[in-house]
Parts: sequence; C-alpha cells; structure tokens
Amino acid sequence: MQKREAPAVSGRKNNENRTQKRRMITGFAVLLTLYAAAATLTILLGRSQRTITIGQISLPLSSFTGIVSSLGNICIIFLVVFFGKTGFRVSLIILLAQFPMISRNVIIQRNLASLPGLFTNILTIVAVILIHSRNRRISEYQHSEIERLKEEKENSKRLFEETAMALVTAIDAKDEYSHGHSVRVAEYAVRIAREMGKSEEECEQIYYAGLLHDVGKIGIDDSIINKKGKLTPGEYNAIKQHPVLGNQILSSIKDHPYLQTGAHYHHERYDGKGYPEGLKGEEIPGIARIIAVADAYDAMSSNRSYRSAIPQQLVREEIVKGTGTQFDPGMARIMQHLIDLDTEYRMQERAAEREQPGSSDLRCGRYRSEVSDGILIGNCVTKIHLNYIPEETGIPSQPPTIILFD
Ligand SMILES: [Fe+2]
Repeated sequence: MQKREAPAVSGRKNNENRTQKRRMITGFAVLLTLYAAAATLTILLGRSQRTITIGQISLPLSSFTGIVSSLGNICIIFLVVFFGKTGFRVSLIILLAQFPMISRNVIIQRNLASLPGLFTNILTIVAVILIHSRNRRISEYQHSEIERLKEEKENSKRLFEETAMALVTAIDAKDEYSHGHSVRVAEYAVRIAREMGKSEEECEQIYYAGLLHDVGKIGIDDSIINKKGKLTPGEYNAIKQHPVLGNQILSSIKDHPYLQTGAHYHHERYDGKGYPEGLKGEEIPGIARIIAVADAYDAMSSNRSYRSAIPQQLVREEIVKGTGTQFDPGMARIMQHLIDLDTEYRMQERAAEREQPGSSDLRCGRYRSEVSDGILIGNCVTKIHLNYIPEETGIPSQPPTIILFD
C-alpha cells in the first residue's frame, strides 16, 4: 500500500517539533544565564570585604561564594545531563577556561583561598566527563534497543503482510472471476477513509480489513462460488455464511480485531436489511460500512461469473440509489465523489481494455442496455463525429442526442 502521511498529522508533528525546539533553546539559555549570574556573584562576593549581620552573628560576604559557585556548578552539570553533546561541549569550554585563571591565582599569586575553587573546578571537569560518557553509553544502548524493536516490528509486520497476502491468494483462487477483488476493495476502502480524514494508522487497518473481508469464502464450496447460473435458495444461504466464517477464521488474530470486524459486518446494510446480524445505521462498525461501499463498487464494476462489468455511470447510479438504504450516506457520497474524480476510469477493472486503440468510440444500443461510458473530453480540442444509422424497422426514429456532462 502506498504510504503517505495525512497532512493534518504531519502538520501536528511539525508544530510539536517546533515547540520542543523552542523549549530546548529556552532551557539552555536559562541555564547559561543562571551560570553567568552565579559566576559573576562568586567573583564579586570573593572580592567583597563587607559583612552581613544576622541577629548576633556577623558573616563576611566572601563566605557565600561557596554556595553561589556550587549553584553555578549545578547549572553546568544540568547542561550536560539535559543537552547531551552540546551541553557537554559548552560546560567543558567554560570549566577549562576557568582552570588556568584559578590555577594562576593559586600558583602565581599564592592566593590559597582559591585552592578549594581549583579542586571544585577539577572535580566538576571530571564529573562532567563521567556524566557525558555515561549519558552517551545510555543513549547508544537506547538507540540499539530502538533499532532492535524497530526491526522486530518490521519483521512481524512483514510476516503479517505475507500471511494476509497468502490468505488473499487463497480467497482469489476460489473464484476465477473475482481475481484482484480483495486488493481493489482494500484500495477503494483506503481512498474513502482518506477522504473521511482518517489517520494513517486507521487507513492501514482499513486496508488490511478490506483485503481480508471475504476470507470466509475459503469455507464455501467452489461449485457454489463459481456457479454461472442463478443460485438456489440453499446455495444463496451457504454464500451468506461467509461473513460468519470469516469472523471465525480471523478471531484468532487477537492483535488485529478490526480484521474480524470487517469480515463479519461487511454485508450489513444501513437500513438493517443486511446479514448476518441485521445491524442498522451506526450500529454497524464504521470499518465495515466503508468496506461495504468499496465492495459493492468493485463487485459492480468488475466481471462476474454471471454477468459482465457494469459501466461506470450505472455503477454510480446504483451507489446513489443505495445511499442511506444499502450504504452509509456519507461514505456513499464519498464513493460517488471518487467515481466523479475517476475521469480516466482507472478505478475500474476494465481500465486496460479502454486504453486499446479505438476504445474512444461511443457505441450505444438500446438506452441503458448497452450504454457506453462516454468519451472523455480533456483540455485539448476533442472532435466527436456522430454517425447515425437508423434501424430498418419502418418505424420513424429520433436522431441521437449528445449529452455533455461537466
Ligand atoms: Fe463478501
């Protein structure tokens, strides 16, 4: 199936990414500002000769440098923890830039009061390197775990797809005339779902449910499925069992309950006259209502053992007639819209036939009995030559009429 991200989903993801990026930049800037404030205060307090009196106790302001510089170091460590490689680089540059200045105070100026600062600086550099290296190992492990899970998911998805396709082959092998029916129904169902604004995940579920909707036919006798003549009431009842059989077959796939739903209810009708449960309107699960429209469209527009494919306009009329009775009104309208968009008749099984030379001829017999699909008028000038040969019945007849649909 062609995978495309719904515009609404990708737009939401972009917004989320932008918000996350903004938060990251703000957090990074806040931490750096806090660090710069702590570093400035440390320097100012270190040089101050003033004291602060709290009750009976008088404290020199320089004794607060330890507290403020620790807060600065906490900011540095947070940068490494929360901002990975970038945070690590920034922190290391700050700490390494401080190192010669503090060392000079201790070694050249013999200011032993800077000695604790030097130890703190060295310990912070070691802590930053250790935290970063541990972070990297954790993120590498997480990455490999994510890759492993992705691979497992892809393998299980491939297995699911292959199993589904094997079942589709088995379904199609039962009926020589419905070859490709399951795939086409799945594709039409997804197109309806996309028009309804369903998410990519929902579209995928609808695709597979459409693919396996007729799996119950595996349990129906070949002679009934391929019978060219009219079915007896007994044979028709047997065919009507396929949704129930499909439900039973797919009930073992617990992780994908929507498959069972699609198979079980795809022959329910919106007016409650369908089978097997006779559900009505919204009681019928949405996935089954979508498949019902797609299934009916493909059944009418493709060849069957008992009749040839019905022309597109007549299929459209049948969909219109069934709107609100056989089909969900909203979904049926979407199907009509898709038919209207299908100006090149790509949706129909007979598309290949139309591309053959001479297929643009409009040949009409009796009205509606052999009605043509018409001639597509594109952007270029299209000449239509009308060749009218009256039947030799002796009864005066009307010349043909051209109807242009816009
Ligand atoms: Fe069916």
